Amino acid sequence: MDGTSKLLVASNRGPLTLSRGEDGREVVSRGGGGLVQGMSSAMASVDGVWVCSALNDYERLVSRRAPGGRLPRADADDGDLDVRMLPIDATTFARAYNGIANSTLWFVNHLLYDIPTKPVFDFGWRRQWRSYEDYNDAFAVALDEEAAEGATVVVQDYHLVLAPRLLRERRPDLRIGHFMHTPWAPPENYSMLPDDVARDVLAGILGADHAGFLCDRWAEAFLECCVTLLGATVDGRTVTYRGRCTEVGVHRLGTDGPALHERAHRGDVETQMGHLRELAGDRRIIARVDRTELSKNIVRGLMAYREVLRTYPEWHDRVMHVAYAYPSRHDLPEYREYTASVQRLAREIDDEFAEGDWKPVHLTVTDDFAGSLAAFRLAEVLVVNPIRDGMNLVAKEGPVLSEPGCALVLSREAGAADELGPDALVVNPYDVTQTATAIHAALSMPAGERAARSQRLARAATALPPAMWFEEQLTALRRP
Ligand code: G6P
Repeated sequence: MDGTSKLLVASNRGPLTLSRGEDGREVVSRGGGGLVQGMSSAMASVDGVWVCSALNDYERLVSRRAPGGRLPRADADDGDLDVRMLPIDATTFARAYNGIANSTLWFVNHLLYDIPTKPVFDFGWRRQWRSYEDYNDAFAVALDEEAAEGATVVVQDYHLVLAPRLLRERRPDLRIGHFMHTPWAPPENYSMLPDDVARDVLAGILGADHAGFLCDRWAEAFLECCVTLLGATVDGRTVTYRGRCTEVGVHRLGTDGPALHERAHRGDVETQMGHLRELAGDRRIIARVDRTELSKNIVRGLMAYREVLRTYPEWHDRVMHVAYAYPSRHDLPEYREYTASVQRLAREIDDEFAEGDWKPVHLTVTDDFAGSLAAFRLAEVLVVNPIRDGMNLVAKEGPVLSEPGCALVLSREAGAADELGPDALVVNPYDVTQTATAIHAALSMPAGERAARSQRLARAATALPPAMWFEEQLTALRRP
């Protein structure tokens, strides 16, 4: 039976996170991460349904009880958006999200495997894969229920690569888009996946009419995989597979300048700026803000800062590295270990260089959004050095908010390097010495040049705000 919605979005994490506070009352917060941030802003004034998964026991309980799985409207900012949360059972969810999405597809596309020992695709992994299929199927069923005849459905990211095809089989009438927020691996890395799975993933996305990526490089890698592993025909950016055509498009996601400004000038951010100013004194701030995420390369970033202090002693007592690494995916042991190694290295740097009231590193590993915005506002240097990153919005937010104007040290492996490269100090993320040299150059840059570059970076960063990014995709999807 057809539903009533003309526009639907599907993603693992929804716009709201629900939990039960210590006093037993419900706590509602915004979902975190790049996807939710971009999508929430894009959907703010849109009439549609956002289908997402329940992510914890409390959300499962609430969504099971809610009529039609619909959450009550959170606040007036959300326009006419309805949220339908799927109470996928805890085991299926954990195997799909932790086992396949975050430990397999994320690792393959970000080239994170330590290959002498990983990955291992065995019996246990196959069980996870079946859960991933079930999880994707649950989305296809819900989208089928919600979508009106001929509706537009935009499916998001690596959690839901099978959903476009599963939905297409149920509903040939729909216009379906898929958008990847991560990089895509070249065929020689992507083909580490079991052959049948590698093909199912590609064929899953090709169930869509339009497949979107954040930059040319990821789109090209996807096309190469379609040819090499699936035997599909590619003509320009049109893929033909089993008689169906999918258009591949590149849609760069930027930041919403005015909204970011407004949020970064609220009282909680001013308070955090006061704390940071007290800690830093008149020392210059080198900032970084990331999820504590393996691909963000925080450890090599700290190594580069240590090398700056070892090689250029003139910066002693004149700089402070403010690093916000907010917690992420702590169900995975690799992430817990990574957080510990970030903390260990920050302590080692302090042990080696701290003197008097100078603490060279100020590391925060708790979720402190206001603190991160305060760090952006005060930063003279911003370090963004991922091993590989779909886009990286931090590289865009920093220059928009920095008051002194910030020099951006940016990995060439971030999608954002395409747009920001000309005004950034671009580095190879594995080359610690080059990164250290770039941080030194950033600190040494004349203030006028730094401010001029920062302004140009901010202009490039805000050129395609989320609402335009989303509109572009819808336009591409509506093209016959
Ligand atoms: C990346 C992904 C997003 C995801 C975010 C946070 O940006 O591309 O899809 O929202 O990480 O990940 P999480 O696992 O916390 O939802």
